Amino acid sequence: MAIRPIIFLPDKQLRLVSEPVVKIDKSVKELVADMFETMYDAPGVGLAAIQVGVPKRVITIDATRGDDEKDPIAMINPEIVWESDETIAHEEGCLSIPDYLDMVIRPERVRARFLDADGKQQEIEADGLLARVIQHEIDHINGVLFIDHLSKLKRDRVVKKFTKAAKRIAAE
Ligand code: NI
Repeated sequence: MAIRPIIFLPDKQLRLVSEPVVKIDKSVKELVADMFETMYDAPGVGLAAIQVGVPKRVITIDATRGDDEKDPIAMINPEIVWESDETIAHEEGCLSIPDYLDMVIRPERVRARFLDADGKQQEIEADGLLARVIQHEIDHINGVLFIDHLSKLKRDRVVKKFTKAAKRIAAE
């Protein structure tokens, strides 16, 4: 296992639509293991493969908090098959947009279908933080970021800030 470098806004790869996984081979299993290590190290509650520069439809999640027992969930080719009409606003952040949090409105509950790391089809219904992370990470594999759910004014301001910071780092 290895920690992989996370890419940041405004890296254009974050806008790619990731490709479905056709075969869960050794490289996919290694990717999943590395993503968990990278996610826990960050630390974060979710990670999409594209955030480590791999445009594959793979996400890792652990929405447990504090001293709770870890609950790592790997989802391959995940899709949302149902979402509640009720929405909820909650503060969100992203490992690729560090130190920026804002309120995002999303469906409160979702049902997701996916393949686990053994290639078995699974379906889970989630609410709370888990529902939010599932939606956030599935957005990532479709090239969507949480700032896309904000007003254009706010989004432009964040992109500008990160673009400036990237230029500053490149110039150093
Ligand atoms: Ni994110």
